[in-house]
Parts: sequence; structure tokens; C-alpha cells
Amino acid sequence: SVYPDPSTASKVVAKRIADIIRKKQENGENAILGLATGATPVKVYAELIRLHKEEGLSFKNVITFNLDEYYPMQPDAAQSYVTFMNKNLFDHVDIERANVNIPDGTLAVDAINAACEAYEQKITDLGGLDIQILGIGRTGHIGFNEPGSAPNSGTRVVTLDDLTRRDASRDFGGKENVPRKAITMGVGTIFKAREIILMAWSGNKAEIIKKAVEGEISSEIPATYLQLSDNVEFILDTESASLL
Ligand code: GLP
Repeated sequence: SVYPDPSTASKVVAKRIADIIRKKQENGENAILGLATGATPVKVYAELIRLHKEEGLSFKNVITFNLDEYYPMQPDAAQSYVTFMNKNLFDHVDIERANVNIPDGTLAVDAINAACEAYEQKITDLGGLDIQILGIGRTGHIGFNEPGSAPNSGTRVVTLDDLTRRDASRDFGGKENVPRKAITMGVGTIFKAREIILMAWSGNKAEIIKKAVEGEISSEIPATYLQLSDNVEFILDTESASLL
């Protein structure tokens, strides 16, 4: 769906998430949310905070899994996705910290594989993700599944694309400071979610959105895999949809 602006679109996405949380609450169940970082979802989180503060939306029954984290990365670093999530959502709602899951950027190299498997297993044991929200990188990555990622890939350590590191360089004060690797949920992990929403705003994303939505399905643009799922919705603003 295409909306006139990111604020309107973000409210629609936040409402979707809030509805899941409330419905699960009524049934005495947990809501299992797959969350994303980057500029794209910030307004969704802002609206969720508003719903918490003004309309009593509680996060007590919410368990979250973030898509990815840079590697290596200290959780308290300014650029970590832990810091991002705290600042943009978790510090402002009543979520239990024990219910927050973000890939660990401090793991020893030889501990990564087991931790990635445990991350997947935890999602499975909880019954799977009720919803996964996604942004899209200009390489066509979802999470940090860069070009070359397989459709059935699981949570793993990946090497970041040069364009991705360039796009992140502003946050790090120069590309040379951007980590070369990241830990990300796989395309396969994302696909297991019962509902997937990919959001994109601004003309900066128009070209990659055209490729993701209309292009040939290929590992060169991992977001094209989303064409294979019936549970995916693209939520766009007029500008990111301008080439469709
Ligand atoms: C990072 C994140 C992605 C995100 C992408 C786009 O690479 N790992 O999950 O989709 O940035 O970022 P932005 O939303 O700032 O355009």
C-alpha cells in the first residue's frame, strides 16, 4: 500500500502491531515481535510510545527479537542497535528487559554460531514471530542479508556490503569506523514470521523498491525473495513508490 507520507504510513504499521499486542493480551498470550532499526521504523516506534502513554497500550506481554546488530559492537556504544532500541522504544514503554532479544555483538568469534542457533531456537520455542517489520538497505538487504544471501539462510554472521558501510558512515563518523561484519537473522528466519511488513520512505529508496517489488527474484537483491511470500506487505510513501 502507498500512503501520502511516512507519518501516516507509520501510524498504520503501529496500529497493526498494537492490535496484535492487545489481541494476545485478551487471550493471555505473549506477542512475539520482530523489530528493525534504521531511520525507517522510528516513527512507528514513536507512535507505539504515544499509544502506550496516551491510550494505555501495555508491553508487559511483549517479547521482541531484533533483526540484527553490528559485529563487533558493545551494547552501550552510541551506534549499537541496543542503544537505538532503548532510545527509540524500550526506555519509553513498560516492556520487561528480559523479554528483549538483540543479537550479541560482544560474542567471541567461536561462540557466534551456537548463539545464532540459540536465537533461532528461542523464536521457534515461543511459537514464532507474530509480525516482522523490515526496512530495506540500498543494496536490497533486509536485516543485514546482503546480496548473495540464500532464501533459506538462518541467523548468522555476515560481511557488510561496501554501500551499506558507506550509508552507515554518518553514524560512525567515517566509513573506516563502521564494523565490517554483523549478526543478522536470515532470510529464512524472516520468512517464518506470520506477517511481514517492509517499509520504505523517500525517493532515495525508489530505485531499490522498484527492483524489490518488480525485479527478477535473485540473491543479488535479497528483498526480491519477499515476492515469494503471501504474508508480505510493502508499506510505502508516495516517493519511495514513485517508480512503480
Ligand atoms: C540498516 C539495517 C536495516 C535497515 C537499513 C536501512 O542496514 N540493518 O535493517 O533496513 O539500515 O536503513 P534506513 O531505515 O536508515 O534507511
